[in-house]
Amino acid sequence: MTNRNIFSLPYSEVTPKRDYLSRRALLAAAGFSFAGLRAAAATKLTGYRKSPFSTSEKQTPYNAITSYNNYYEFGLDKDMPARNARNFKTSPWTIRIDGEVAKEKAIDFDALVKMAPLEERVYRLRCVEGWSMVVPWIGFPLSALIKAAEPTSKAKYVRFETYFNLKQMPEARYAGMPFPYVEALRMDEAMHPLTILSVGLYGETLPNQNGAPVRLVVPWKYGFKSAKSIVRIRFTEKQPASTWMIANGREYGFYANVNPEVDHPRWSQAKERRIGEFGKRDTLKFNGYGDQVASLYSGLDLRKNY
Ligand code: MTE
Repeated sequence: MTNRNIFSLPYSEVTPKRDYLSRRALLAAAGFSFAGLRAAAATKLTGYRKSPFSTSEKQTPYNAITSYNNYYEFGLDKDMPARNARNFKTSPWTIRIDGEVAKEKAIDFDALVKMAPLEERVYRLRCVEGWSMVVPWIGFPLSALIKAAEPTSKAKYVRFETYFNLKQMPEARYAGMPFPYVEALRMDEAMHPLTILSVGLYGETLPNQNGAPVRLVVPWKYGFKSAKSIVRIRFTEKQPASTWMIANGREYGFYANVNPEVDHPRWSQAKERRIGEFGKRDTLKFNGYGDQVASLYSGLDLRKNY
């Protein structure tokens, strides 16, 4: 079969070659900008506070964070989302809240950003493909939205569904995976203070390629958990199937906790390349957030529950 299909394609083949990555990362680190990448619609965010949960590590340059993306609805290559999402319409925007809640409702974006004070959270992001970044996200704890949603006692999981429309995302045809993109968390993971809904980065609203207008960020999990451009949040009793579990369940599990001790079936997860740097560094268990999250998984076999 010659068509590019993620069901049959190893994730690594979806990734551009390593030298491509380092060349681009190098240019970005050197401060070169890629034409037109700063989203025309980006708006300054003000009045946010700095979160004590932030890492003081060197932040990945804006140009790298916004030109090296995974957003398959806008194309499979890393530079495609920045180009193809340029005219993505993110306003008006509503998120539907449904499932195991006291009352189903719709929250529009303006109400969403007022649910809790905005904070800057500088987090490490580790992709399952073996690269990482340090991103100054702007957002607020997902727990604020969950409390407002009033989940019932049956709600054990939170499922995130993202925007999908072939008219705006014609490249999605070639991704060969089921859309809309779906991810999910266990309720205690979703309520954890490190888990945020992000609406911006580097002090501005999110660029489209990074998941405008609102995306999930779960720093101790592989990047694919961070669903972009969320339109629906559903509370469920049973564990939902995520897009990657459906596409390739043998390789991508529900938990997706960063774990250097558990290899991906086709490559090691022991090391990572920080975008903009040479060489590799050791990957930290739970992406370095173990002090805060390891207790969520006590008694769980992390080899079986990858
Ligand atoms: N969300 C949607 N809707 N579609 C996607 O293809 N890719 C995921 C995640 N969220 C993806 C998505 C993957 S694999 C990663 S690594 C991160 O987004 C990348 O986020 P970034 O481009 O902002 O670094």
